[in-house]
Amino acid sequence: MKILVLNGPNLNMLGMREEDIYGSETLDDVKMKLRDRAKDLDCYISFYQSNAEHELIDAIHSALKNNIDAIIFNPAAYTHTSVALRDAILAVKIPFFEVHISDINAREDFRKKSYFSDIAKKVFSGFGTNGYILALEEAIKNK
Ligand code: DQA
Repeated sequence: MKILVLNGPNLNMLGMREEDIYGSETLDDVKMKLRDRAKDLDCYISFYQSNAEHELIDAIHSALKNNIDAIIFNPAAYTHTSVALRDAILAVKIPFFEVHISDINAREDFRKKSYFSDIAKKVFSGFGTNGYILALEEAIKNK
């Protein structure tokens, strides 16, 4: 099974960004944890992070060509704004799992709106970086 883990804007700053909300692990720490778990579960993962909406759209389109079976996506701030990224996910029809480190429903009102939750196979919000691991396990279960 091939899984793409996609991260949106400012997630490259994990570990030094609002640590009270997002914790002290870096994106590389998260990558390592996911790689370890993926090895146990016998699946292949690729990672991509971008601060640019069009690059994330291109990565989703490329997932089709690369025979990706599932996408684990933290769209970050684009969660609350991007019809274009939603449309990209719908266009490729690859099962997708939405992850948020913080609980988006327990923060500012503008974070309560997600353009992705109704099209996600499952949403993991508020489990810290463990949400990525939970999403990986769920993606494999859903295979
Ligand atoms: C986030 C929540 C978003 O509201 C925010 O813009 C992010 C990160 C999270 O992982 O909790 O950048 O997606």
